[in-house]
Order: sequence, then C-alpha cells, then structure tokens
Amino acid sequence: MNILSPSILSADFWHLGEDIKQVEREQVPYLHVDVMDGIFVPSISFGMPVLQCVRRQTDLFLDVHLMIDRPERYVQSFADSGADLINFHVEATDQVRETIAAIRGLGKKAGITIKPKTPVQVLEPYLELVDMVLVMTVEPGFGGQKLIPECIDKVREVRRMLDERGLQTDLEVDGGIHLGNVQTALEAGANVIVAGSAVFKDDIGANLRAFLKQMDCV
Ligand code: DX5
Ligand code: ZN
Repeated sequence: MNILSPSILSADFWHLGEDIKQVEREQVPYLHVDVMDGIFVPSISFGMPVLQCVRRQTDLFLDVHLMIDRPERYVQSFADSGADLINFHVEATDQVRETIAAIRGLGKKAGITIKPKTPVQVLEPYLELVDMVLVMTVEPGFGGQKLIPECIDKVREVRRMLDERGLQTDLEVDGGIHLGNVQTALEAGANVIVAGSAVFKDDIGANLRAFLKQMDCV
C-alpha cells in the first residue's frame, strides 16, 4: 500500500492545527515530523513540545524523523511525546542496534535513515530489525530542495535488498518530491512518500488530493 506522509516542516506554524486538519480531511493517514538539532544538520526546527501538542489533537500516525546527533539520548522523550514511529540516522550514532531495540522496547515502530552520500550497504545488518527504511533524496536540513536523481537508484537498491530477504519493510523517500516525480519514486520501490513544500502551499486540500490520485491511493 502506498502512503503519503506530509511533512509539517513546510506548514504555516501560525495555524499548524488548521493545516493538519486539512490532512485529516483528505484521509491521509500519516504526518511526517522533522526534528532538527542544529548539530547533525545546520538548521533547528522543533522538538518535544510541538510533538506533544500535535499528539493531543490528532490520531494521525506520527512519523517522526530525527535529524539529531546521538538520537539514543532522546528516544524515550519522543516516544513519551507521542511518536508512533521513530526514524533516526545511522550516521548520527554508533549505537544503531541498541537504538532500534530501545525504540521497539517502548512499543514504537523503528526506522533507520541514510543521507544521500551514505552507501546502502550500511543498512544491511539492520534490515531484519526495522519497520521502515528512509532513503533521503536531498541532504537533510531544509525543505524545498531539489531531489538528487542518483538517490532514486539507491531506493531501487534498497528495495532489491529487502526483496532478497523476503521483507515487507516500508521504504520511505524524503526530499524534493512533487507531483512530477512521485511516480518515479514509487516505481523505484518506495511505498511511503514524504512531501513538504509540494503539499503545504496554496490549496493544501487540492495538493493532497492530487498526490493521492497520482499515488493510486484513491
Ligand atoms: C528535510 C526533511 C524533509 C523536508 C521535505 O531535511 O527531512 O522531510 O521537510 O521537504 P520537501 O518535500 O519540501 O523537500
Ligand atoms: Zn524528513
């Protein structure tokens, strides 16, 4: 099943609740929550208090993307704050296995993420242990960038690695996805699509409907 996960990084925080209601209205099941610490990535976004606020108001599946150094320090906090899935970067820690186990031990889904320059082979030891693999299609840190075409080959490669192992693991892509290239990402083997700036601009409802149609979700 293909799933759209709209990234609230590109929402208008003045009326974040209204923007999220539009996502619910279109029956999109996921919301992508980008957490940045100013160390692992240059920018700083938001953290636990915002996640808690969102959690109190919505039943959407909260797909939390931690772009933070040593994510193991914050797994408990983000679980307590309402994440349904916690995705962290393998480049950000030397405790990948322990962090996956900690997330799952808290009853949450676990995901691992690679940046565009990280080879897919680093994922190999963990594929059986996670619910999701996220292949970044831009350098993490900012919304509104252009997709790096070579990253689509990595998506294809990860899907092949999962298939070889008979795994149904979700494969998410994140960065620079718009209506014109979402099909390419799906064909490469992604089944969870993050979109920020292509969703939270102009008519959000119309953008969401166009994505869902393009992704065969309706
Ligand atoms: C980038 C974030 C993305 C971002 C995507 O570091 O991880 O989730 O919000 O935004 P767009 O879709 O605008 O590239
Ligand atoms: Zn993200």
